Amino acid sequence: MCHDCSALDGTPAAGTSRRSFARFLAAGAGLTVLAACTPDAPAQVPPSSSTTLPPAASPSPVAVATSESPTAAVEPVPEAPVAPSPAATLPRQFSLTDPASPWLVVNKHRPLVPAEYIPADLVQPNVRVSVSGEAALLNSTTAAAAEAMFAAAAQDGVSITLASGYRSYSTQVATYNGYVAARGQADADTASARPGYSEHQTGWSFDIGDGGGACGFQPCFADQPAAVWVRANGHRFGFIVRYPWMFHPITGYYYEPWHLRYIGVEAATDMANRGISTLEEYFGVEAAPGYP
Ligand code: DAL
Ligand code: ZN
Repeated sequence: MCHDCSALDGTPAAGTSRRSFARFLAAGAGLTVLAACTPDAPAQVPPSSSTTLPPAASPSPVAVATSESPTAAVEPVPEAPVAPSPAATLPRQFSLTDPASPWLVVNKHRPLVPAEYIPADLVQPNVRVSVSGEAALLNSTTAAAAEAMFAAAAQDGVSITLASGYRSYSTQVATYNGYVAARGQADADTASARPGYSEHQTGWSFDIGDGGGACGFQPCFADQPAAVWVRANGHRFGFIVRYPWMFHPITGYYYEPWHLRYIGVEAATDMANRGISTLEEYFGVEAAPGYP
C-alpha cells in the first residue's frame, strides 16, 4: 500500500510556473510553513485562506410572463460582468460533474456522485508499475494516455513508474482513516481525500514514482527526473499536476508532484499555454480549501 505524503516543497519553481506563483502571491494567499513531510510526522499547517472564483456561466436573456404579454422576452437587469471560464473557449466541452467525464472537477466542495462510483472501463496500462491489484488500474482513456506518456519519457531517457492508480471507495476509506489515525483529521485533510472525494476513484488520476526509486511520495520527488519531465511534458499527453505547489488555498491539498490527472490534450495544453495551474481556475468553479 502506498500513501500520498503531501507537503510543500521548498523550491518555488517546482511544480508551478513562476508566473502562476506570482499570480498566487498577488492574490494575497501568502506563504505558509515550509516543512518536510513524512507519513508519521506531519509538520504542515492546514490551508488557511480561501479564494472565491467567479462562476463559469454568464447571465443570459430569460423569457418571463407579464400581464401584457405572457411570452415576452426581456433582458434581465444587468449584473456585474462575469468572465467566462478559460475552458469555455475550447470547441469541445465536457461535463464538470459526470465522473466519467475527463473534465470532472472533484474537490472538497464537489463530491463524486454517486459517492461509490466505479469506472466501467478499468484496465491495467502496459507501463512499469510498482503496485498490484486495483492500484495498477486506470480507466481506459487514461491508461492509453499513460502508455504514450511513459513511452515518450523513456525515449528521453526518463523512467516513470505507476505508483498508485485506481482506488475504490472502500480502499479510500481505509487510506483516509489511516491518515487520520496517524496525523489527526485536520492534517489528514491536507493530504488525503475523504471517501467519495478522491480523483483516484475515477480512474482519471494516478501517482507516479521515479524509475530510480528516489523520494517516493516525498517533497524531494519534485526534483526527480520523472517529476521534472512530467511537469514539462505531461500536457502533451493530456495530463496536469493536479495539486501544484502553493495552490492549496484553491485545491485544498498541499503540493503533490506525483499526482497526475488526465483532462485531455486540448485542455491540458491550453492550461499550460495560459499559465493556469488549477482545474478550479480553468473551469471557473469555486476554490475548495476545506470541506463545507
Ligand atoms: N491525495 C489525493 C488528494 C487523494 O487522496 O485523492
Ligand atoms: Zn494521488
